Amino acid sequence: MLQQTGVGVAITGSGSAIPSVSLDNQGLTQLVETSDDWIATRTGIRQRRLAGEESLSAIATLAAQRAIAMAGIAPEDLDLIILATSTADDLFGSASSIQFQLGASRAVAFDLTAACSGFVFGLVTASQFIRTGVYQNVLLIGADILSRWVDWSDRGTCVLFGDGAGAIVMQASERDRLLGFELRSDGTQHQSLSLAYTAQPKELVPGINVQAGTYHPITMNGKEVYRFAVQKVPEVLEKAMFRASISIEQIDWLLLHQANQRILDAVAQRLKIPTEKVISNLANYGNTSAASIPLALDEAVREGKIKPGDIIASSGFGAGLTWGAAIFQWGR
Ligand code: COA
Repeated sequence: MLQQTGVGVAITGSGSAIPSVSLDNQGLTQLVETSDDWIATRTGIRQRRLAGEESLSAIATLAAQRAIAMAGIAPEDLDLIILATSTADDLFGSASSIQFQLGASRAVAFDLTAACSGFVFGLVTASQFIRTGVYQNVLLIGADILSRWVDWSDRGTCVLFGDGAGAIVMQASERDRLLGFELRSDGTQHQSLSLAYTAQPKELVPGINVQAGTYHPITMNGKEVYRFAVQKVPEVLEKAMFRASISIEQIDWLLLHQANQRILDAVAQRLKIPTEKVISNLANYGNTSAASIPLALDEAVREGKIKPGDIIASSGFGAGLTWGAAIFQWGR
């Protein structure tokens, strides 16, 4: 039953967690024919974290605990946990295991898969539950361990990705801090970026087959994905800003999915957003998929860069293809 309607959404806490092991570009030259200079010039990435020991649910839980602490609530206060990931420890979902590890005994928990758009899609999904008055306290986690699924012999992809987790707490609020959003999908370009299941028929009994296959490492058409991002991300941000009745000049921070510095620069240039308003930490982490936006958000908040009331234009984009934007104000 709906408790109340017309409720707003506030983002009241953030947290992040990264694996302890890091691999710099020089280290990658032991695996593939590449160079620090090539990777840094084409992508802006200098190093990435790799989860050699840590599980997805372990780094996600740590990020979540930090976000919950910042929000000043207890795990038992949570009504809902959404885990945006493409690399769950368990294909049935890892959100419930995180719910258990947090001790969030009242919360319902589920995974949401939308690749590198997962965090923005999750933000919008969570806000629907809050706006309808159903839930008051929601934990949204973006976490990925893409190193599990990277082809480490493919220099076109292995230099790009890294592992990490970020989380936010979203709460019902009198003032609505989610100012506008827009989400998009285009399945016609599904092949441009995928981590696909390949079936291997196995005959169970005569005449009846099942598919005893496996998932294959990430494949990507880098040029297509690049073109898609620099065209679609500015469009979707403009649409979300229009819905929010916000002008470019009112944006304090541009917070994009951290895929490639050239994509960040091209989007900022198209929107005429000055470089000093662009949040970037991909040099240290590479592309951490669903984790990249909350990881960069949390760092900027803890550094004191992002302050309460600041207006953030965020956009996620990636496999699907999917893309989306959310314009929100940080804080209560
Ligand atoms: N080190 C050295 N050389 C490399 C290399 C690497 N890691 N990867 C590719 N090359 C080579 C190519 O083989 C090619 O050589 P050739 O000219 O002899 O054929 C040359 O560098 C140029 O490759 P190209 O693929 O045209 O480079 P690019 O400028 O398009 O950059 C990406 C490649 C992947 C960095 C770029 O396309 C990109 O960032 N795309 C978006 C990817 C992305 O963000 N995906 C995730 C979205 S969520």
